[in-house]
Amino acid sequence: MKNDIIEIEQIISEAYTKIENSQNITLLNKISSEYLGKKSKLSKIIRALVKYPIDQRKEIALTANQAKNHIKNVIISKRQEILLNNVNNKYNTKQIDCSTTSLYFPFSRGSFHPIISTMEDIITIFKLLGFSIFEGNDIENDWYNFEALNIPQYHPARDIQDTFYIDEMKTKLLRTHTSAAQIHVMEEQSPPIQIIVPGRVYRNETQNTSHSSTFHQIEGLVVNKYVTFVDLKTIIKYFVHKFFERDLKIRFRPSYFQFTEPSAEVDIQCYFCDNTKCCSVCSNSGWIEILGCGMVHPNVFKSVNYDTYKYKGYAFGIGIERIAMIKYQIDDIRLFYANDLAFLQQF
Ligand code: PHE
Repeated sequence: MKNDIIEIEQIISEAYTKIENSQNITLLNKISSEYLGKKSKLSKIIRALVKYPIDQRKEIALTANQAKNHIKNVIISKRQEILLNNVNNKYNTKQIDCSTTSLYFPFSRGSFHPIISTMEDIITIFKLLGFSIFEGNDIENDWYNFEALNIPQYHPARDIQDTFYIDEMKTKLLRTHTSAAQIHVMEEQSPPIQIIVPGRVYRNETQNTSHSSTFHQIEGLVVNKYVTFVDLKTIIKYFVHKFFERDLKIRFRPSYFQFTEPSAEVDIQCYFCDNTKCCSVCSNSGWIEILGCGMVHPNVFKSVNYDTYKYKGYAFGIGIERIAMIKYQIDDIRLFYANDLAFLQQF
């Protein structure tokens, strides 16, 4: 055990030296996968923990994960330093010639925002499974966001989703979830329905590392004659494995939503600590929640005049920021909206 701790210390100092001496992003990326990737020495140490009794595992896992975090942070600041140097060099060495319009040609190309590329990745997976895309509205009224979804006025569930109203009469609001679009789809179409709704949602919440007042969701809705919870589970499992490209453990945890019954939240095995339960991202639980789902509540079908004996359905809502943070190992949601080029150019 002592040897492991010594080895971790050696790995850190070796990584620091390499990071300090690297002068370009390509090299830095290589160092990043060498020290943080699945085949890294630190990951090997974590995987080999099984050979120790439980009480000793925790200390090594904690030290190894702290080492990973340190190395990750040093890489991030080095990356910013290199990017900044590149920009400074570019502008300082070139003389401005006002007679030419192509001074900075070729212009550096823009890149997709990580939220957009994550959305695109998710959409591609569901499109291949036969889902069509429905565009909902950002501005909704009480009926679509709450009432028709079995959340009556004065129901405490409304407090959970602190709402931004945009008029004094509280008739118009910014949707608090993409589930509002379920009602539009069902009002406009009859079953079979198999759609996803990507979009932005709004909640009057205090911002912190994991909460933002604006974020993105992808809603899924399937309605047909014979739809079961097994169909829901199958599609979610398929999606998770396809999206993360890893054979992650996944669990369905019983939960509660007004508009689904039964309801569940889906957790995946923590990507950061590989289920060793020593990490801040999963609060030492080894699991990270990624979506809410369930079988459509009969009251929701009643609101859109669907025959509740004839049709069954399932729905799910995926949190895009959540899933992007896990995939790209980002530990602060606010980074997505800070418009910091050094951050955005990494993707
Ligand atoms: N609308 C829920 C939320 O925002 C997620 C959800 C969607 C749950 C569909 C069940 C079914 O938390």
